[in-house]
Amino acid sequence: MGLIHFNVPPFVGTEFKYMQEAVNNHKICGDGPFTKKCDEWLEKRFNAKKVMLTTSGSSALDMAAILCEIKPGDEVILPSYTFSSTANSFVLAGATLVFVDIRPDTMNIDETKIEDAITEKTKVICPVHYAGVACEMDIIMEIARKHNLLVVEDAAQAVMSTYKGQACGTIGDFGCFSFHETKNYSMGEGGAIVINNEAYIEKAEILREKGTNRSQFFRGQIAKYNWVDFGDSYLQSDINAAYLWAQLEVADDINNNRLVAWNAYYEAFKTLADKGIIELPTIPEGCIHNAHMFYIKCKDFDKRQAYIQFMKENEVLCVFHYVPLHSAPAGLKFGRFNGIDKHTTSDSDRLVRLPMYYGIKKDDLQKVIDKTLEFFDK
Ligand SMILES: Cc1ncc(COP(=O)(O)O)c(C=O)c1O
Repeated sequence: MGLIHFNVPPFVGTEFKYMQEAVNNHKICGDGPFTKKCDEWLEKRFNAKKVMLTTSGSSALDMAAILCEIKPGDEVILPSYTFSSTANSFVLAGATLVFVDIRPDTMNIDETKIEDAITEKTKVICPVHYAGVACEMDIIMEIARKHNLLVVEDAAQAVMSTYKGQACGTIGDFGCFSFHETKNYSMGEGGAIVINNEAYIEKAEILREKGTNRSQFFRGQIAKYNWVDFGDSYLQSDINAAYLWAQLEVADDINNNRLVAWNAYYEAFKTLADKGIIELPTIPEGCIHNAHMFYIKCKDFDKRQAYIQFMKENEVLCVFHYVPLHSAPAGLKFGRFNGIDKHTTSDSDRLVRLPMYYGIKKDDLQKVIDKTLEFFDK
């Protein structure tokens, strides 16, 4: 049977054909035909105003942070239980990070704790849709509008997830997707920024194209292009976009395949959860998730470590997740935790992720289930 990996990057079989096509097109840099196909697909599917592929989810977040025009000393509210990229982008823009506790049921930012963290310096709220399960966006948007704040959704894990019928990433002012190899749809390294506030589209194009208005030039709107503002290079190469396009074409198949595995885990472990031995993820009403991740929470840290070890001995790779940012060296340097850390540290200490990827074999899935039941039923 062999080792069961935690993640296997998605591969559907048509990637090479499209990459070859990109090469044959003599257009392998950014904004070629495959980039356009991907951008348009994402815009249409998610009903988004504007989507632009980027070199990573991190660079999409960098773009969003820059577009928010944060000034040194401005504050950004975010969960501490997230990837360093969420925080780095705002540090790059000069912000002070204000971490807020998470909800234990979804591991998402606790929307009821946000208002208390707002000061006259607050500029942005950055909710992270952990495991592809949406944050409580109605409340977050209401708080943001009331206090005149921008919202950047870190939807790195939430491609294809929805909140009350709206695609994650399309609700705030900006949304950021990741197409890293660990994500549901991938191109190795890659991402996309979703611009939901039309006022930022032109600025985003310039920022992404080295500070030039080249996008307008290519559309024939201006006779020559010029350096008009600060910018950087966030364009994804068309070869990578070709790889991603293969997967977007069959996005529903990938999504359904992952959901089958997720549901199988959930059903199999319900009894353990009912007995109070483990905790399972909650999908709040109104949220449709994308089966990005399947995690369980053990009784405590030691039990989790023992479980990971037991699974490893049985050739199944299960892994913990984020070490909270507020207690990390950079977190201490760049931010502060507002309020009480009731769940961030204690719940992250207990969380473990199970193998989950497109095309996971039935037998492998069953082995993960059997070994997990064996460990916790002991
Ligand atoms: C929540 C979150 N934000 C941001 C990122 C960064 O995405 P990328 O790896 O594409 O830069 C990730 C990727 O792991 C993530 O999980």
